[in-house]
Amino acid sequence: MNQDVIRPLTEAEVAMLKKTFRLMDRNRLAMRFYTSLFARYPNLRSLFPTDLTELSTKIVSVFELVVFSFQQQPDGNYHLQTEVLQPLKSLGALHAKKGVEETHYPLVNGILLESIRLELPEFSADAERAWKLALNHLTLAMIGGGTNVAPDHETMADSYQHIRSLLFRVP
Ligand code: HEM
Repeated sequence: MNQDVIRPLTEAEVAMLKKTFRLMDRNRLAMRFYTSLFARYPNLRSLFPTDLTELSTKIVSVFELVVFSFQQQPDGNYHLQTEVLQPLKSLGALHAKKGVEETHYPLVNGILLESIRLELPEFSADAERAWKLALNHLTLAMIGGGTNVAPDHETMADSYQHIRSLLFRVP
């Protein structure tokens, strides 16, 4: 069902995200990420600038924003807060302009998860699930339609239908 890929996070999952993010060396994470991305998908290299210093800082800032932007809703679960949805959507639009395709997202998210795993020697199944969900929410906000409105279930369900195949399956 729908909740498998984009269900809201539980309090424990948000706590896990924050905890694991704090444990990471952010510069090293960015370095691992770009190194693995270009090793695995060399054709993507030409989309990026030669010097990745600024981009590394920016991308990690977005992850930080996402990790700390899950907000508890009346249903007790955690959704990305409305205020960050529009900026993330604009970021997604900027990507499209730069030549990024929707099908690139699962590739990037997969490498990102792998980099996080390498960065944290004790990356539990719970942590992995929390990160998969968070990356699904981030991806939906960037490329899903209609995410500039409150992420109630109906709206979310509509907007992510077209990208659900690009998201992590979350057990
Ligand atoms: C997973 C979610 C992603 C996040 C959080 C993210 C984050 C960012 C940020 C913050 C920027 C800088 C934008 C600016 O300069 O204002 C950027 C640029 C860029 N990203 Fe992403 N990105 C994501 C996914 C992707 C994907 C899937 C690709 C596909 C290869 C990609 C390729 C690029 C490229 C080519 C640029 C432009 C570099 C430049 O010309 O300066 N990103 N990204």
